[in-house]
Amino acid sequence: MKIRIDKLLSNLGYGTRSEVHKYIKNGYVLINGEILKDQGFRVDTETDIVVFDDEIVEYQEYFYFMLNKPAGYISAVQGQEPVVMDLIEEKIKGLFPCGRLDKDTTGLLLITNDGPLTHQLLSPRYEVEKEYEVNTRDLIDQDQIRRIEQGITMADGTRYRPAKITGIEGNLCNIVVTEGQYHEVKNMFLAVGNEVVHLKRIRMKDLILDDSLQEGEYRPLTEEEIHSLKTYWKAGHPAE
Ligand code: URA
Repeated sequence: MKIRIDKLLSNLGYGTRSEVHKYIKNGYVLINGEILKDQGFRVDTETDIVVFDDEIVEYQEYFYFMLNKPAGYISAVQGQEPVVMDLIEEKIKGLFPCGRLDKDTTGLLLITNDGPLTHQLLSPRYEVEKEYEVNTRDLIDQDQIRRIEQGITMADGTRYRPAKITGIEGNLCNIVVTEGQYHEVKNMFLAVGNEVVHLKRIRMKDLILDDSLQEGEYRPLTEEEIHSLKTYWKAGHPAE
């Protein structure tokens, strides 16, 4: 791929375009060992070696981070209230949260700039599993489980696909859903006369929340994690 040097460096978070122009002017950028003079130089990301301030620039189109979302943050890029992107130090252009967790929901949130993958992970068509730990106000009983596992239709006509509930212990359980509708887990429990008091996402597809991450912490995904997010789709292989 060929891309202008100023666009490449600013996409990777080295600064705004005009800051990058200054760095180039001041000799911070080398291409294949030579100090770059031409601000409009087009880098071949497959063959050119770019050095910024004595360090090789690793070109990457897409970035993936696993965030353990704390309560109190909105799943958005910017807003009036604290947003999850405030927690991400890397200033890579185009990063956004893949999907939405409610402000008071904690746990696994993928942060990426990979639009096509995000679309696939969030599309109900691919039935991507999302697993949550649920803590409810009242004890969870067999009738509530049966109704949630059959699929819920709310009074306003909203329908939720059958969910799978496991690990029931008093007020706690795990639930696996395959949609991603607004407030879906909370609404399902409300519909059966209970109420969610805490919700934590622990898995999305094969991606499991790293329990060494404290709330508010994040880390890049491993190659294996990225690979498994991109392979096997229930409704077949989406277009690459
Ligand atoms: N379901 C909810 O009700 N809230 C979330 O944040 C995620 C799933």
